[in-house]
Amino acid sequence: MADDDLLFSTRDLLIGTATASLQIEGGDRNNNWYDWASLPGTIKDGSTPLRATDHWNRWREDTALMAELGLQVYRMSVEWSRIEPRPGEFDSAVLDRYREEIDAIRAAGIQPLVTLHHFSHPSWFQGLGEWTSDAAPDLFLRFVDTVVRALGDRVADWVTINEPNVYAVQGHLFGEAPPARRSWTGVRKVLRHMAIAHCRAYRRIHELVPDARVGFAHHARVFEPRNPRNPFHRAMTAFDRTLFQDVIADAMLGGRFARVLGSAPDDIAPGRYYDYLGINYYSRTAVTGISDGTFPGAPVNDLGWEIHPAGLIDVARDLHRRYPAPIWVTENGTADAADAFRARFVHDHLAAIAGSDLPFERYYHWCFVDNWEWAEGESQRFGIVALDYETQERTVRDSGRFLAQVIADGGVTR
Ligand code: NOJ
Repeated sequence: MADDDLLFSTRDLLIGTATASLQIEGGDRNNNWYDWASLPGTIKDGSTPLRATDHWNRWREDTALMAELGLQVYRMSVEWSRIEPRPGEFDSAVLDRYREEIDAIRAAGIQPLVTLHHFSHPSWFQGLGEWTSDAAPDLFLRFVDTVVRALGDRVADWVTINEPNVYAVQGHLFGEAPPARRSWTGVRKVLRHMAIAHCRAYRRIHELVPDARVGFAHHARVFEPRNPRNPFHRAMTAFDRTLFQDVIADAMLGGRFARVLGSAPDDIAPGRYYDYLGINYYSRTAVTGISDGTFPGAPVNDLGWEIHPAGLIDVARDLHRRYPAPIWVTENGTADAADAFRARFVHDHLAAIAGSDLPFERYYHWCFVDNWEWAEGESQRFGIVALDYETQERTVRDSGRFLAQVIADGGVTR
């Protein structure tokens, strides 16, 4: 496509989709989320991740479909509970299986980005106190070491941990995820241990794969006071930005531990623990401090999350000012069962990226096929490909065709 024919260009951007093992693979009973979903009343529709998109068996079909759509990059996670089913016992057949899948992805011309922890882990790790345990960073590092030795010859790009802040508050403050505790001490321990684990994993991956690009996927949202003249709303906005966002970013990216995290261990000095800025961006929050929500009249998705494309640039600019690096949008997407506004959502976020002066390098849309959305179960539809859970039939949505067209054209045509 000639540049004149384009409304905006995405040629500087690699575009693809993102996903997570537990949400798609199915068939695994040895993890914290299966255990949790098996308890009554935890998941909105009563489903478990046992069926999901059956990707464990259908990965060839899914890879072929991604290739057909021309996706350039793909973010996936490897499942700790499958790889290390019992402490210190690693399943080489599972690692072989991931190797095979990654080879097929690469053979299809798609660059893989592999996440090492995306909310799920073995039941035994949960039983030890998961990320609140002082042993967590060492246990995670042993797992990382094994995975990177097994896959590091074909994977250059890594996400250590997905959304530490969401993991910490959903599981330890809001009761929306296992272990459903309500404890600030728990939140602080989780964040501390994840930050330590990330910094050490960053170093270890580079020891094993010198050219690796390593980062973490930061859940960054826009917080704004619902009423900017209300001092309480303003104060709570600052509180959310700092405690939910900046404390963990400073520790993971810069090795700088705020007082709430406790002092950094001796081996972690302030420095640079990232090669790219990974940003998961979905929405903006109107802060009241009591019942946060959306701004009046704002467009929302099926989950009631405000759609606010300009916010992606705001959060990216803010992080990039403090931690300069290429920016990878490790997730961006929307719940839209009718596929009524997903194409517009993609268009507007890509337009915002194209119009900014920031070094965006990659855009991973969440998600490829509809999948198991944690506490929402099978009820929410984030895919550019629709899934019939009963038959497991995949159907590319119009928004998926639109994304494929953008990739093919190198932008959006006039
Ligand atoms: C971010 C999480 O990383 C992902 O697992 C989840 O499905 C999406 N947000 C949508 O909620």
